[in-house]
Amino acid sequence: MAAYSLLGVFCISLIVVTTAAEAAAIHKGRAKPPTEFRVGGKLGWREPDANHTDMYEVWATKNRFRIGDSLYFEYRNDSVLEVEKQGYYHCNMTATLASFNDGKTVINLDQPGPFYFISGAPDHCKNGQRLLVDVMNPNQTTPPSRPPPPPPAQPSIAVPPQPDYSPAPSPLPNSGFSVRALTSFPVFVALATFVASGV
Ligand SMILES: *[C@@H]1O[C@H](CO)[C@@H](O)[C@H](O)[C@H]1NC(C)=O
Ligand SMILES: *[C@@H]1O[C@H](CO)[C@@H](O)[C@H](O)[C@H]1NC(C)=O
Ligand SMILES: *[C@@H]1O[C@H](CO)[C@@H](O)[C@H](O)[C@H]1NC(C)=O
Ligand SMILES: *[C@@H]1O[C@H](CO)[C@@H](O)[C@H](O)[C@H]1NC(C)=O
Repeated sequence: MAAYSLLGVFCISLIVVTTAAEAAAIHKGRAKPPTEFRVGGKLGWREPDANHTDMYEVWATKNRFRIGDSLYFEYRNDSVLEVEKQGYYHCNMTATLASFNDGKTVINLDQPGPFYFISGAPDHCKNGQRLLVDVMNPNQTTPPSRPPPPPPAQPSIAVPPQPDYSPAPSPLPNSGFSVRALTSFPVFVALATFVASGV
């Protein structure tokens, strides 16, 4: 009976940990309404001051971009060129994926990974008017958040009952027994009773 209640506690901790992790994952992955980001904030899309040539880097790192979000560029006497990595790092306007000069450009972030933009006005890119936005991949963000929770939970919940019975530790390490017991129906019934009465 004592062994069963210890198993029950272990089992509960497993279930609690699992549901908590799942809830966190569901909460994290939950579809947020798409956001339209105004590039550069109040300043919009323009050649940065000499003091703030990193203004678009700073702006980008302050935001998290998800698939479905969009970028809104507002500008005058300027342009937005969507380019590849090389175009971004070398301010090379030769090969553009898309170009706009309408003053109010909306770009849909429809895939994960980097998007690169530069200004097409002379010297503006060189002076810092370029933007790299990294759109999060939902498949990459979920797995790393799962493994951390289990280790801290097990010692804190399972260790306190041990002083009550010192001979018990031997049945637990027996994996064949515990795995069978954990998956057997009677244990879940006992567990349900335990939960209903104990908590
Ligand atoms: C650059 O920053 C310094 C001090 O923060 C300020 O005195 C100067 O006016 C700034 N220059 C420009 C061009 O913004
Ligand atoms: C845009 O360029 C025109 C002439 O090309 C000029 O008159 C106007 O002041 C410029 N506007 C801005 C915001 O620089
Ligand atoms: C700009 O890119 C084109 C091809 O995309 C390349 O042929 C050219 O050499 C590049 N120019 C510079 C200055 O890197
Ligand atoms: C995420 O993974 C699923 C299944 O592996 C795949 O179909 C989907 O294209 C992936 N999404 C992204 C954005 O990589």
